Amino acid sequence: MSAPVVTIDGPSGAGKGTVARLLASQLGFHLLDSGALYRILGYSALARGLSTDDVPALVELANALTVTFPFTVNNTDVCVDGVSIAGSLRNQAVAEAASQLAVYPPVRQALLDLQRRMRRAPGLVGDGRDLGTVVFPEAQVKIFLDADVEVRATRRYQELIEAGQTVELSAILRDLEIRDIRDRTRDVAPLVAASDARVIDSSKKTPAEVVAEVSEYCRAKGIG
Ligand code: DC
Repeated sequence: MSAPVVTIDGPSGAGKGTVARLLASQLGFHLLDSGALYRILGYSALARGLSTDDVPALVELANALTVTFPFTVNNTDVCVDGVSIAGSLRNQAVAEAASQLAVYPPVRQALLDLQRRMRRAPGLVGDGRDLGTVVFPEAQVKIFLDADVEVRATRRYQELIEAGQTVELSAILRDLEIRDIRDRTRDVAPLVAASDARVIDSSKKTPAEVVAEVSEYCRAKGIG
């Protein structure tokens, strides 16, 4: 039997990354930060001066990627070809590029195999937009984590400020709204809750509360 999978999908800033990391650590499972893959492509495209609509070049880049997440609970590192680039991925320009190139089916297809190959024993916790609907439709546990857009913008703002970036809350809110619309309305793999996903609103919950709720749900499904 293939390794169990827990998917956590939802919009940016809902807390997917934190919850996925804590849960993976608790279960001793591998972690897949699928947004990081799209961001890596966005970052690489910007670094090479490629346009985010140059689909053939993006597919070639995606096919050449070797990505690992050598994480611990406090380590959100991402390595590409063995080199840590996590520090370069969390900014608005890269997020915007990632969201733009994510609308192209050949680009998504190129990242699909990479994501599926990360399913290994004893199990995988993945977060993204389409993990429960497209990448792992047979996942044992599917969570759709949502939150009010103002709450999500404030969280992202605090994260970026803590990372030493100079940003404005109003600009973040606007960017999030634009990205939300693009992610939710694209033709292929739009951001939507799987019909069999458990929907959790994290607006008034701490990460620990969400993790406790997800863990309990996992146990009810025979995981953990
Ligand atoms: O989760 P994130 O903010 O790091 O993701 C950045 C962008 O990547 C997001 O705006 C849309 C895209 N993405 C996607 O299309 N599918 C995924 N599974 C994950 C991210």
